[in-house]
Amino acid sequence: MLDETKGKGVWKSGKGRGRATPKGRQYDDTALAEVRALLGDRPRRRDLLIEFLHLIQDTYGHQSAAHLRALAEEMRLSMAEVWEVATFYAHFDPLREDDPVPPDLTIRVCDSLSCELAGSEALITALDKGMDPARVRVLRAPCMGRCDTAPALEIGHRHVDYATPDAVARVLADGDFHPVIPAYETFDDYREDGGYDVLTSLRATGDWAEVQDRIAASGLRGLGGAGFPSGRKWGFVRGNSGPRLMAVNGDEGEPGTFKDRYYLERSPHLFLEGMLIAAWAVEAKRIYLYMRDEYPAVLHILATEIAVLEGAGLIPPGYVDLRRGAGAYICGEESAMIESIEGKRGIPRHRPPYVAQVGLFGRPTLVHNIETCHWIARICREGPEILSSVERNGRVGLRSYSVSGRVAQPGVYLLPAGSTITDIIAAAGGMAAGHVFKAYQPGGPSSGLLPATLDDVPLDFDTLQPHGTFIGSAAVVVLSDQDRARDAALNMLRFFEAESCGQCTPCRVGCEKAVKLMQADAWDTNLLEEVSQAMVDASICGLGQAAPNAIRMTIRHFGEEIGAGDH
Ligand SMILES: Cc1cc2nc3c(=O)[nH]c(=O)nc-3n(C[C@H](O)[C@H](O)[C@H](O)COP(=O)(O)O)c2cc1C
Ligand code: SF4
Ligand code: FES
Repeated sequence: MLDETKGKGVWKSGKGRGRATPKGRQYDDTALAEVRALLGDRPRRRDLLIEFLHLIQDTYGHQSAAHLRALAEEMRLSMAEVWEVATFYAHFDPLREDDPVPPDLTIRVCDSLSCELAGSEALITALDKGMDPARVRVLRAPCMGRCDTAPALEIGHRHVDYATPDAVARVLADGDFHPVIPAYETFDDYREDGGYDVLTSLRATGDWAEVQDRIAASGLRGLGGAGFPSGRKWGFVRGNSGPRLMAVNGDEGEPGTFKDRYYLERSPHLFLEGMLIAAWAVEAKRIYLYMRDEYPAVLHILATEIAVLEGAGLIPPGYVDLRRGAGAYICGEESAMIESIEGKRGIPRHRPPYVAQVGLFGRPTLVHNIETCHWIARICREGPEILSSVERNGRVGLRSYSVSGRVAQPGVYLLPAGSTITDIIAAAGGMAAGHVFKAYQPGGPSSGLLPATLDDVPLDFDTLQPHGTFIGSAAVVVLSDQDRARDAALNMLRFFEAESCGQCTPCRVGCEKAVKLMQADAWDTNLLEEVSQAMVDASICGLGQAAPNAIRMTIRHFGEEIGAGDH
């Protein structure tokens, strides 16, 4: 009988479906060696993923597919997980195999409201035309917390204030793209002034409940925007069994806000002492300090001064873990920040449970804003009267207003919490020459726009609700007769469209549809109202819930600009 298989052998009997490699992308030995060298002996912990992505981005100016695959291999994560995180953050450039490599230098030009008022559009056009795209790329970016020196941009990590094409040319010729570190109060100066004495004595003999009562007596409320009474938070966190953690919110992404940067660039130790007092009060095992990547000088100051605190024996090495954001406004929302600290995309969590119960790494977590910590230190050092003794228009306390737009002297102004826009403009040197006051944003784009006629409302927590808005982070932007409210509102919605994390449809799609509708000469106010209501009702977090404020308040107060009544 003829043997049919003869000459073929069992291996050649069919085509077979074998493959030379495992499924999925393969890692490259050279890339793996490079990633290992970059990571050094750092622990390959999941929560450090964003820090490692920064290392790759800082070293190579982008994140090649080979490096990302190697990082996934090294961290025992899937490539998909690494890719999802890398693509979430605006300051990362993850590349597919065939993507072009971006130029070495990136200029990010702020196009948020105060910079737009100061001419950022013309600046972007001029830079786009004037740059060699092989060497430099020009990107739009949201607020970088320099609204008082608008228009602002960043070349590498060097910011340019009052930016012009000539100023950019000078920095490019100079070739130094590192941040400029401002002079600030050092540890020795602060110590000489009695700094850290309160912390030391509280740690020795203090009663956390008594300190919490002092904070409550001062009337301090959370200055990240939500305004939760700070004097109640510690008890909530302590109500959950340990180990407990603390996370400090230094994301300061609400356009128009620069108060946290203002305090950190001047008196970082007041903040650090306040943070350590709060951590002591809840017996936090560790502090995670989340600082936005847009503040490279602050990151440098904090890294330096935390090392000084370790050297002075005030904290054990590693007790304060400084984490660097990567360009995502939503990471200012506390649960999104916690996700980001865990090395993930900054997608807000559903509540309950609240972060005070189940926060970072599943542990009860105390979250405070930077400025809140600053005031905790001042209240402990100077007494609750520092806030509670100040009264104006029936409101108690002080507020750090970040003021920008059409005023003569933009800046941070520490004023009584009951200040009106009239008081704030007066503090900022009055209106800029040639401008007549028309409208104002009381607290970031989340707060929308009020007309100049509402100039007698104290700009504080709880006072703006009757007007359909809230004070938020007290980011006041002043508009004049030379500005259109509808353009400002469109700028705000464009910001939210770009920054929505996309997890809920009403916010993701609502922001996008609103931006389209708001570009029409005559707004379809009925449809815009329908979109707004859906966003308010069905968005998970404050971004989607507050974004319609700008739409609704423009319809309510500036009908003449939007052809209202046509629909
Ligand atoms: C969309 C959104 C963005 C936020 N951004 C910030 C921020 O940049 N910085 C901040 O401290 N709080 C921000 N918050 C408020 C935080 O969720 C949280 O309330 C705050 O960090 C708590 O600290 P505090 O009580 O000291 O204010 C944001 C909230 C939302 C909904
Ligand atoms: S409201 Fe917007 S930003 Fe907030 S979770 Fe939903 S999609 Fe994300
Ligand atoms: S830095 Fe441009 S708006 Fe804040």
